[in-house]
Amino acid sequence: MLADFMARLPEGPVNRDEQPEALRALIGDGPLPDSGSDTAILLESAASLLFEHSLFNAHPRFFGYVTSSPAPIGVLGDFLASAVNANVGAWRLSPVATEIESQTIRWLAELVGMPHGTGGVLVSGGNVANIVALLAARRAAADWDLRKTGVNGAGASPLRVYATQEVHTWLQKAVDVAGLGADSIHVIPTDEQQRMDTGALAQAIEHDRAKGERPMLVVATAGTVSTGAIDPLPAIVDLCRKTGVWLHVDGCYGGVAACVPDAPADLKALAQADSLAIDPHKWLYAPLEAGALLVREPERLRDAFAYHPPYYHFGQEVTNYFDFGLQNSRGFRALKVWLALRQVGRAGYVKLIGDDIRLSQWLATQVEAHDELELFTRNLSITTFRYVPRDLRDKRDADTDAYLNTLNQELLDRSQRSGEAFVSNAVVGGRYALRPCIVNFHTTEADLRALIETLVKHGRQVDQALRARSAD
Ligand SMILES: Cc1ncc(COP(=O)(O)O)c(C=O)c1O
Repeated sequence: MLADFMARLPEGPVNRDEQPEALRALIGDGPLPDSGSDTAILLESAASLLFEHSLFNAHPRFFGYVTSSPAPIGVLGDFLASAVNANVGAWRLSPVATEIESQTIRWLAELVGMPHGTGGVLVSGGNVANIVALLAARRAAADWDLRKTGVNGAGASPLRVYATQEVHTWLQKAVDVAGLGADSIHVIPTDEQQRMDTGALAQAIEHDRAKGERPMLVVATAGTVSTGAIDPLPAIVDLCRKTGVWLHVDGCYGGVAACVPDAPADLKALAQADSLAIDPHKWLYAPLEAGALLVREPERLRDAFAYHPPYYHFGQEVTNYFDFGLQNSRGFRALKVWLALRQVGRAGYVKLIGDDIRLSQWLATQVEAHDELELFTRNLSITTFRYVPRDLRDKRDADTDAYLNTLNQELLDRSQRSGEAFVSNAVVGGRYALRPCIVNFHTTEADLRALIETLVKHGRQVDQALRARSAD
């Protein structure tokens, strides 16, 4: 049934435009059933609910957010893992699963070039990987007893975090849960390509130190969520080494592209970070959920998270993953990632990721050549652009920009509802942009051609409707 579902996906819509009420009616609003139901009937009806009423990110014309199509071997990996149901919190509870997770962490580090000895932990996704890194850096930066007395304990200094406004929203959640508050973030300006200004970063660190504050963490991004921009990592690495500030790289989207031999030097330098978040459930095609935090000195995680209550006797000579992060009981996420790494190997990923980058380059050339589209940016596998009616092409004023923002916003909404293709949006220099991100091994040039046709068709229709509305 699953194989058939996957094979037939391209023939159907990416998405069905259904309302919450309709879906609630479909699943019924009865109370918790008192008695059980037949298993075969249940599974069949659950499958048909999902196959007919989902948004399909394995569809070749799905390009939203950074959400990938799942590797079929990963689907089976999850099935196998949950059947055995290993609790990968402690080695004693999950001997072979823990060893497979450790090997997966080592292989992920190797894939992106991090040094031998790098450790880490698998988590639910990018947000949690990044948040765990921030908590470890907070512990490492404090020379008072932070775990006992908290961020305001005796001898504490205000802790500061550095990032640009392009950083993903995880950072706001992280400083919140870490008790630092949003004011602890020192926002560093960017250049015209949305990359961190390292001169401004150096000044900010110096300035805060002079005030008696403690620079705790620089967050650089290797593939921003909006445009795929890569911060100038070599210069940031140098500065962090010189100043002794922990460098964390959010490579949740772009990090694994460092394995592509001709990846830019700015990206490859992520291997020199103190910690790196990458997301196997993005560009390594693991089914949700699988995020990874890699840490150059894995003991930093134990320093931040390990406690040894009397009811656990797990021994310190083995790896007990509950010591490395927030979770206690943990599922066997590593299996799906490990299986896919073994199935295609490094060469397979170099090809799969390289193909997506080449497709996005091809898309950008098509957009540039189209007289109703305006290209903004292209990095890694994200292209941003907007629809511009021919008669507005040469207009450069605030009213036109405001009109084009409304037009493209409505066009995005219509195209998403149409089920013909699915892209999400970005805002680039105040302009609303359409933003296909290709992390999809099913996509071909023909799908991108169809994407352009769909967007232009909806663009023309929305333009007509808006003009008719304003004429009324
Ligand atoms: C750069 C970046 N960081 C973090 C995240 C959050 O990842 P997740 O959705 O897996 O929590 C994303 C998601 O797109 C991202 O692109």
